[in-house]
Amino acid sequence: MDGPVPELTEHAAACAAHLRDADRVLLASHIDADGLTSAGIASTALERAGIPFETVFCRQLDEAAVADIAATDYDTVLFTDFGSGQLDIIAEYEAVGDFHPVIADHHQPAEGVETDHHLNPLRFGLNGASELSGAGASYVLARALEPESADGHSPSARETGSHAGDNRDLAALAVVGAVGDMQDTNGELRGANAGIVDEGVEAGVVEEGTDLRIYGRQTRALPKLLQYATDVRIPGISNNEAGAIEFLTELDVPCRDDDGEWKRWVDLTGDERQTLASALIRRAIASGVPASRIDDLVGTTYVLSREQEGTELRDVSEFSTLLNATARYDRADVGLAVCLGERDAALDRARRLLRNHRKNLSNGLQWVKEHGVRVEDNLQWFDAGDEIRETIVGIVAGMAVGTNATRSGIPVLAFADTEEGEVKVSSRGSYVMVRDGLDLSAVMREASRAVGGDGGGHDVAAGATIPKGGVEAFIAEADRIVGEQLAEDSD
Ligand code: C5P
Ligand code: C5P
Ligand code: C5P
Ligand code: ZN
Repeated sequence: MDGPVPELTEHAAACAAHLRDADRVLLASHIDADGLTSAGIASTALERAGIPFETVFCRQLDEAAVADIAATDYDTVLFTDFGSGQLDIIAEYEAVGDFHPVIADHHQPAEGVETDHHLNPLRFGLNGASELSGAGASYVLARALEPESADGHSPSARETGSHAGDNRDLAALAVVGAVGDMQDTNGELRGANAGIVDEGVEAGVVEEGTDLRIYGRQTRALPKLLQYATDVRIPGISNNEAGAIEFLTELDVPCRDDDGEWKRWVDLTGDERQTLASALIRRAIASGVPASRIDDLVGTTYVLSREQEGTELRDVSEFSTLLNATARYDRADVGLAVCLGERDAALDRARRLLRNHRKNLSNGLQWVKEHGVRVEDNLQWFDAGDEIRETIVGIVAGMAVGTNATRSGIPVLAFADTEEGEVKVSSRGSYVMVRDGLDLSAVMREASRAVGGDGGGHDVAAGATIPKGGVEAFIAEADRIVGEQLAEDSD
């Protein structure tokens, strides 16, 4: 079984011991699906360990955000899903005794600085973009925070013990976080992530299976499921409502219920799903879809066993989109409440936000298709100005990769204006490009610093914020660095 490497678990124990010694903790996390699930995991673990805490969310952990955190009177700050990339800023506050940081993150660390309690898979030989997410790092920490953990710590009176079991139930949120950060793009979760899946299965909160890998299996009516499934494009069905309906109608599967309403994928029996999947694959082959793409239609899927069937929460991918729909619209409180198990008002609110998010994603992608991209030597880019919200321009860029709106083989950079009068940049590549030497984290950091901004992230996906006047110089610098990275690797 893959699991977190022993060194990571050991370091988590040291981080946990430090948190236990704190009177109270400020928990700071990132505003996306991985950040929210990280916060859900960390706050549950702190609560169960009887450690008082307060939670805050930041859009970007820049100098101003760290300064705000330092201005609070918390002596201990737990950063989840960010902090590593800003270690240089954090270390300055630590040095003057403002606060002591504990970091559970998976982004590429700032260079030349280190701190005592820094739980990051990249420090332990794991890939931070594919083997462990922020929620995964938080989960490893949560396991170390269990009252009877292996470090010999015995529960104190403070540890009220209202929760009888261990923290393995939190693996459900860790899987949502990993999938929310697209760590399963190779077809399944790997590395330390796979170990977390195993623990979730043992704890009865996660089910792993082989199924159609199309977004919306729990909630979408069958025609919409097929019509919107564009990761693998099937001529005559993808983006074609009439075609999808015709395909379903010709099948020997009852796709409508007694009232004539379309069923969802989850409403079908195992045999019916099999029939539909086989027909879809036959159709794809007949339409000339390449075999490698057809393979992507079926793969490993993850279901949260304790969530109600037919809801967004049951499927980890739909759950993560629901969370993005809250946090990326300044409603992290709603998403966190859903992570913590609130199912009434918070879930209703999240669903309303989700409708808005979907509309924005669809409009955003449409905008990119209509306006196209500009192609440089080593990259392509589009500037959405204020047409796409800066908090989702990265998701739109990711969705545009692999459609005919972009070229394959070179990364995509996307720009959008921020409310503060700066420019947000998101970049997305592929694992093929990474193998050829691409490291977008370094590109975003170096090119943004060259124009007075800052950035970072992962090799395959990264971002930055830059001053408004710096876009042109930034593109030239990024283009040059990408060219260098790809050239270096080929000799
Ligand atoms: O904060 P950060 O870790 O949250 O987010 C990672 C981002 O990178 C996500 O938006 C995710 O969609 C993107 N990503 C990607 N392709 C991958 C891995 C991550 O686009 N293979
Ligand atoms: O929002 P998030 O990045 O979590 O979405 C994950 C994936 O789900 C997207 O990359 C997109 O392909 C898919 N999606 C979709 N339709 C939506 C929202 C998301 O197909 N309305
Ligand atoms: O915002 P976006 O989805 O493009 O972010 C891609 C990745 O880059 C995320 O992991 C995010 O945390 C990271 N990022 C960063 N510094 C920034 C902007 C984004 O580390 N200034
Ligand atoms: Zn993350």
